[in-house]
Amino acid sequence: MSCCRHCEGVEDVFSRELAHNDLDDYRRKGASRQTHMLLAALHRAGVEGRNLLDVGGGVGAIQHELFAAGLNAATQVDASSAYLAASQEEAARRGHAERVTYIHGNFVDVADTLDSADYVTLDRVICCYPDMPALVSRSAARARHLYALVYPRDRWWSRLGIHLLNLNFWLRRNPFRVFVHPSAQVDAIAAQAGLKLHSRQFAGLWQVVIYARAG
Ligand SMILES: C[S@@+](CC[C@H](N)C(=O)[O-])C[C@H]1O[C@@H](n2cnc3c(N)ncnc32)[C@H](O)[C@@H]1O
Repeated sequence: MSCCRHCEGVEDVFSRELAHNDLDDYRRKGASRQTHMLLAALHRAGVEGRNLLDVGGGVGAIQHELFAAGLNAATQVDASSAYLAASQEEAARRGHAERVTYIHGNFVDVADTLDSADYVTLDRVICCYPDMPALVSRSAARARHLYALVYPRDRWWSRLGIHLLNLNFWLRRNPFRVFVHPSAQVDAIAAQAGLKLHSRQFAGLWQVVIYARAG
């Protein structure tokens, strides 16, 4: 699948209706368990005065939580215009929209135009993208301190579940696909970008992996 087809699929799957429902869920229940695990690592490292690059941030849970803890600025790059709008709506409601730069597009296409950030996060994003090496290498290169990922565990049962999910997309003639990328490959690409594995935790289907810039 070309990346252009990927973005069409993203706009279709991460629609206005889903964005509206996700924002409603976030307002009622807060961030998900795996996002809380990611946030805990950033809180431990210190948030005050830091900046964030949130790739595929969805309704913006990571940035909304970190602004409450003293984050200075954030950039969100998202391939879904509906999710970007939902994130902006929530930021305006919380009073920090002017400190966020919103970029609509495929991160891999716009990465070269972006500055590095203290923290770079991809929460349930690399599983949406076919060319994992391009997505991980370009985003990891932009992390000055921590690089934080949430993505599916590399197990037979996660592959089976995601295979069934993809069958459903195929039956609906939707080009969007979900991927279980091998953890060892993700680790190797992060290492090539100068990042050291700091922690790996599990929450059901998900693994929450934090890398720190060496030195
Ligand atoms: C499963 S949602 C996760 C949203 C949020 N991070 C969360 O955990 O709730 C995947 C998000 O990644 C975005 N996305 C997928 N591929 C992308 C890409 N190549 N560049 C930028 N955003 C992308 C989608 O638009 C969507 O907002």
